[in-house]
Amino acid sequence: MTPILWIFCVIVVIIQFADNATSSTCADFDDTTHRYNIALNDWKTLLNEQIGNSRSYCDAKPNSRPRVRRDLSKWTDVEFDKLVDAMFVMRNTAMKRGQELYGDSFRSYGYLVAKHVIASTDTRGDQGHYGSHFIMWHKAFILEFENSLLAIDQSLDAMPYIDYTNPDALADAFRPERFGNRVALQGLTGKFENWTLLPMSSQIWSSVYVPYLNDTSTVSYSGDVVHDLFLSESNSYSSDKLIRYDNTVTVYDTDTNPEYYIACVSQSSYENWFRCGDFGLQFPHALHPIVHYFMAGNTHPTHTSPGLDTAASPTDPTFMFAHANIERNFAMWQSYNTNLRYDNWTYPSTGFACYLPTTKESKAHYVRKDYYYGIGFEDKISSAFGFTDRQLGVSAHKNPDELWTNADVMCYLDLYDGTAPHTYDTYAYRLLPSKHPLDKNR
Ligand SMILES: *[C@@H]1O[C@H](CO)[C@@H](O)[C@H](O)[C@H]1NC(C)=O
Ligand SMILES: *[C@@H]1O[C@H](CO)[C@@H](O)[C@H](O)[C@H]1NC(C)=O
Ligand SMILES: *[C@@H]1O[C@H](CO)[C@@H](O)[C@H](O)[C@H]1NC(C)=O
Repeated sequence: MTPILWIFCVIVVIIQFADNATSSTCADFDDTTHRYNIALNDWKTLLNEQIGNSRSYCDAKPNSRPRVRRDLSKWTDVEFDKLVDAMFVMRNTAMKRGQELYGDSFRSYGYLVAKHVIASTDTRGDQGHYGSHFIMWHKAFILEFENSLLAIDQSLDAMPYIDYTNPDALADAFRPERFGNRVALQGLTGKFENWTLLPMSSQIWSSVYVPYLNDTSTVSYSGDVVHDLFLSESNSYSSDKLIRYDNTVTVYDTDTNPEYYIACVSQSSYENWFRCGDFGLQFPHALHPIVHYFMAGNTHPTHTSPGLDTAASPTDPTFMFAHANIERNFAMWQSYNTNLRYDNWTYPSTGFACYLPTTKESKAHYVRKDYYYGIGFEDKISSAFGFTDRQLGVSAHKNPDELWTNADVMCYLDLYDGTAPHTYDTYAYRLLPSKHPLDKNR
């Protein structure tokens, strides 16, 4: 059988599995029929479609020279070393000093972890995960990180992504010369062996991080009083060494699966793309959870470590590049569903969110949660510690300090219409033509 046929058969099995789902949970796919089947065959046609009129809610212009985020496995060792150096500068330089040296786009690594912690622990409900706002928040977040990298070393051009659909690219990323071997409960090795957890205390929190917040009224984090490390307070881990997820004590294996990656692309609504990518019947293989099993940042029933701490998970040096790969999938989804761009890509005006599971068994069946501020299309995204034009290096508002909404991210950081400062070298490993759909219009 050819690889394409093989993938097709696997996908058919997935559909049959999906058909057995119970209804009214966030994990159901309500439109699985046919979508998977035509996905692979129609790729070329869909991606060669001409770009039509611009979207009604959005006046952003395409960026004629987007920087290109490339597959990390195509990076040379010299390029990667420059990336590592820039990350250590972020890790070891305070905001004020860094901005004096590298300009306004500099961000300390601690600032970024703080931004993720604040979004994750907002008292209104998670402002960065488990719903419609997930990919919008993370698109903005990794861009702010990338802007800082480029402020430190412009020759980097753009950040890379780790292609979790490609076993060779994964093996390449997790070796000593790159992010270090991925050995359960072992510390990071190689270039990142000294990439320790950041210090934290209520005093550090209030003096270093609180000044950056836009509003403290919905903030629940107050600095770690348990172990003086930048972890969630509920985390009982006490060493500053970052360790990888313990994949020996889970019922799930942690293999990636290219078919699941592609399955999300063929979902026919924004909500179903999210469900497929974050929960879904393939959990934990879904494209978002799987990357956390490779890094510091997931919950586990019996283990507590930096690696099992969702809020502080950007501490793992693979975080940014793993989430770039999810944004790439979202862009592929857009390319597959071009008709939806006139409909705000079906992002509902009130957004949507899902409850966290309480047991392993329920992980595939998150339930829908009511609207809360931050998830709606026009809501300021994570307004306790938001994103602004100045932070993202993109002119969207008259006032460059105005906080962005989810709609702003969709408009101004769009990959399909090319309004973002960046794009990806290819939307999908092996399964798609290598050209960006916009290439021929440039
Ligand atoms: C980590 O720190 C130790 C002690 O300072 C040093 O000997 C070692 O070379 C460092 N590792 C890397 C990869 O820089
Ligand atoms: C939000 O906080 C950022 C970072 O401190 C700041 O630059 C921006 O002006 C603030 N915006 C608002 C509306 O408070
Ligand atoms: C798209 O979003 C805009 C801005 O929130 C809204 O005015 C418009 O009605 C939305 N369009 C659709 C088709 O939902």
